[in-house]
Amino acid sequence: MPNARHNNKGPDMSDADKPVRTITIEVLRYRPEQDREPVWQSYQVPFTDDMSVLQGVQYIKDELDGSLSFRWSCRMAICGSCGMMIDGKPKLSCKTFLRDYHPGTLRVEPLAHFPIERDLVVGLEDFIDKLESIKPYIVPKEPRQLSQGEYLQTPAQRDEYEQFSSCINCTLCYAACPQYGMDSKFMGPGVLALLHRYNADSRDGAQADRMQIVGAEEGVWNCTAVAYCSEVCPKGVDPAKAVNLNKVNSAKAYFMGLPGKKEPAR
Ligand code: FES
Repeated sequence: MPNARHNNKGPDMSDADKPVRTITIEVLRYRPEQDREPVWQSYQVPFTDDMSVLQGVQYIKDELDGSLSFRWSCRMAICGSCGMMIDGKPKLSCKTFLRDYHPGTLRVEPLAHFPIERDLVVGLEDFIDKLESIKPYIVPKEPRQLSQGEYLQTPAQRDEYEQFSSCINCTLCYAACPQYGMDSKFMGPGVLALLHRYNADSRDGAQADRMQIVGAEEGVWNCTAVAYCSEVCPKGVDPAKAVNLNKVNSAKAYFMGLPGKKEPAR
């Protein structure tokens, strides 16, 4: 019989050497065709110690209730699509294990601060629009020909942006950000971290454009420095640091009369 790690059927005979326990998973369901508002639904899920929360949710869909909707793809903390509120905290469900919530009842909800489309699937249009607005790619300072070869960079130049380039767009930091929860115009931690990733890259020439976003009312100055974003990031990115660096950059721009200065309060 197939191994539980390679399908969604939960524990089976090949797991005979592993203790099988049962956990109660409560899922916040929202089916727009029948629910006026989200409702909790409870499932009993058998699991072994190596099963992730994502596998638990997949077990529910495959064995108990095929109508449950959620996003996932890689199952290895790379694609960023399986984010959920797990016992109230934003986490990647493929990187979180059922064993850590047993005994007890595990609650799974859609990511906070985003509109719910269906069950655990949230609408990400606002995040995608913001991401596109910062030009999340290298804009060459001047046109380059292939014959010019590689765009060389020293290790020190790479260190300026490397940690911010680990972002996988999972949006956990948005679900953790109280400011984004109160004001969705705020650019938010992930996009501001990626903005800094490109602005700090020695090969890039679009800093002036991006600094307009940094200094705008919905830019870095809207951040209230809670820093929970950095705590929940599954890839070790530090969006709060990127925001603070850009508060400094924005203040410098203000005093030097450059693009990206802090907008006066209205
Ligand atoms: Fe890809 Fe979890 S499924 S990050």
